[in-house]
Amino acid sequence: MFFTLFVVLKIYYNMGMAKTVTIYSCFECGATFPRWQGKCSDCGGWNTLSEEITSSVSSKSLGQKKDPVSLISVKQDSFGRISTGLQEANRVLGGGIVPGSLVLLGGDPGIGKSTLILQIASNLSGQNKKVLYVSGEESPNQIKIRSDRLKSSEENIYVLGETEINTIINSASFFKPDFLIIDSIQTIYASELSSAPGNISQINYITNKLLEFAKKNNIATIIIGHVTKDGIIAGPRALEHLVDVVLYLEGDRYGNFRVLRGVKNRFGSTNEAGIFEMADNGLREVENPSLVLISEKAQSSGSVIFAAIEGTRPLLVEVQALTSTTLFGYPARKASGFDINRLQLLCTVLQKRAGVNLSNQDVYVNIIGGVSLKEPALDLAVMLSVISAYKDKPLPGNLVVFGEIGLSGEIRTVNNFEKRLQEAKKLGFKKAIVPSGSKVGIKDIEVLMPKNISEAIKKAFL
Ligand code: TYD
Ligand code: MG
Repeated sequence: MFFTLFVVLKIYYNMGMAKTVTIYSCFECGATFPRWQGKCSDCGGWNTLSEEITSSVSSKSLGQKKDPVSLISVKQDSFGRISTGLQEANRVLGGGIVPGSLVLLGGDPGIGKSTLILQIASNLSGQNKKVLYVSGEESPNQIKIRSDRLKSSEENIYVLGETEINTIINSASFFKPDFLIIDSIQTIYASELSSAPGNISQINYITNKLLEFAKKNNIATIIIGHVTKDGIIAGPRALEHLVDVVLYLEGDRYGNFRVLRGVKNRFGSTNEAGIFEMADNGLREVENPSLVLISEKAQSSGSVIFAAIEGTRPLLVEVQALTSTTLFGYPARKASGFDINRLQLLCTVLQKRAGVNLSNQDVYVNIIGGVSLKEPALDLAVMLSVISAYKDKPLPGNLVVFGEIGLSGEIRTVNNFEKRLQEAKKLGFKKAIVPSGSKVGIKDIEVLMPKNISEAIKKAFL
């Protein structure tokens, strides 16, 4: 009798509503399994299964009719951006925060993400915007201490110490903030999933929920995420496709400079970077970073000034190199702020094309100020600094360089020629070694255009 009742109830239940099912899907190949297993039996990947909740819906209720709109009739609006109060952050965001958008701010632990966000929250609070700061990492007391340090305007900032996403979303729906901050995604969990907080399936699921909430209620939401050096797992990289804007805060934790970089932006260019300096009372915008970065330039051998482009702005940085005779075994190549493989390659090019024998020399290269650069235009500066260190001969103090080096030792042209030279001129440099073939002539700077690395060495040490 009970059994019949159970069967009837179960059939009724199955007819009545969509049933939720937990499945495990492999994020490498997409295969799904009813149970968790350590190895995906389809593609053989280890630890690639993540938990997902799906609902089975009867096919009758699937799909409705919707009318497409003509693109001509769509009005372009300016998104009603709201200023963050920090010019450097506004620049990266494309003018300000767009209501209803989901922004991901990633970075190494301890780099200053919470500090930056609290500063922005304070500025928004000053504009009478209501901010809800959800913290799973720090207690309201700790946030208060930071807030005092930053001298925030606190009247419209509300703190919620909570880590369960449904509670967070329910609370936020009642509270109706203009801005929602989640610090950090790795500490938040959904109780309907059995995996631990920080797990990739938790992070994906929570971000999807926040996305839906942000769009539906037109609340700008900022998610903070730690990037781990070794892991794509639990790293915010996996979320980049979901959110509207992805920003990374980078820098050397022990240096003072921080670069805020846009990696993805549905409302603006990703070609921008904001530059900050970490001070005692928070992040300070740096108006003239070149001046700060080269103010303590070494007068010794191995030091070169490179004209870089950070985002769309020129930036002068000091490149330093040191060489010393290898004591035993394989010569060391170490680089900080610069790609180590590129350094290996440049050393080989130097040896082959300029006859500089580095096979018994340890080579160390450092970009000053904790700045990390990836531009090919940095090649020439690195090479000249290595040679200067190797010969123990300083380069002229008023010299600035940039240019990419090819495998046959030729100096190749780079972008933003004029901008780089203008910045050098502004800061009083008198001599530049740059790729040939550019038509730009700048007054007050002697522009030298060697064809290859051997010529460049001759010109630099004349
Ligand atoms: P934090 O914002 O907590 O980093 P994250 O959220 O990215 O983990 O900042 C961490 C560091 O910044 C901390 O080591 C102390 C330093 N700091 C300052 O130097 N000045 C300040 O005003 C603040 C608030 C922090
Ligand atoms: Mg933090």
